[in-house]
Amino acid sequence: MVKASLFDVTGKIVCVTGASSGLGRSAATAFAQAGAKVVGVARREPDLQDWQKETTGETSIVVADLTDRQMLTETARAVCEHFGAPDILINAAGMNTRQNADEVTAEKWDRTMNLNLAAPFFLAQEFVVGMKKKGWGRIVNFASLQSRRAFQNGITYGTSKGGVEQMTRAMAESWSKYGILTNAIAPGFVHTELTAKVFEDTEKAAELASQTCIGRNSVADDLHGPLLFLCSPASDYVTGQILFVDGGFTAK
Ligand SMILES: NC(=O)c1ccc[n+]([C@@H]2O[C@H](COP(=O)([O-])OP(=O)(O)OC[C@H]3O[C@@H](n4cnc5c(N)ncnc54)[C@H](OP(=O)(O)O)[C@@H]3O)[C@@H](O)[C@H]2O)c1
Repeated sequence: MVKASLFDVTGKIVCVTGASSGLGRSAATAFAQAGAKVVGVARREPDLQDWQKETTGETSIVVADLTDRQMLTETARAVCEHFGAPDILINAAGMNTRQNADEVTAEKWDRTMNLNLAAPFFLAQEFVVGMKKKGWGRIVNFASLQSRRAFQNGITYGTSKGGVEQMTRAMAESWSKYGILTNAIAPGFVHTELTAKVFEDTEKAAELASQTCIGRNSVADDLHGPLLFLCSPASDYVTGQILFVDGGFTAK
């Protein structure tokens, strides 16, 4: 029998990184609208405050630079202060330096790996403690088409996102037995701050749309259903998977 509560996240405590912009912000709004208590994390306080103002539901914010490894424990503690230990972690914060392989700098390489790969892991490690006590948890990482494909000037970003894919499986292997399921979403092209340069070139954007099966690029709302699926009882037997929400880009 199909229960009405299959996709229910009411009352769940959700930490969303990257909630000041783009896909993280959209995800944070979706969870709040679905009745969850949402803590949004990012560096830009005014943008987080704007998100909070425009969002109905129980929300809170934590201002933090997630590239700062030494501060992640402190950031996790600050997140827990608002509604308690999170049931759900959405690792949406990310960056793409778009450097040519010959010009990659150690500084940008390290920042990217810290934000895209280390922060999701070490935040998860912090929050898993509370999730284990509850015997329930959900972690959703943000992978990418570049987890599996090499794009121009994408060596740093693509390497981090390839890592996110494998980290997702390894998290699932480590923590699923405690009721903590980990999956990743790999979005197609969505116009956000991250991809602004790509979408400036309208011909390129049209070409990317034509590479999908559906025939258009994505919008942030396309991820709401998959996110609720991965964070609700609907996905109780799904872990260690990468869900490509890409309009069939990788199917072609
Ligand atoms: N858009 C796409 O087409 C696409 C496709 C595939 C995957 N993705 C992935 O989806 C995720 C979200 O991307 P997006 O497109 O929404 O990008 P975005 O609009 O640029 O948002 C990135 C978010 O990450 C936060 N962030 C950046 N550096 C940070 C830092 N040092 N500390 C804390 N937070 C930081 C930003 O907040 P602050 O600047 O306020 O810190 C912002 O909220 C990323 O992981 C990205 O790789 C996006």
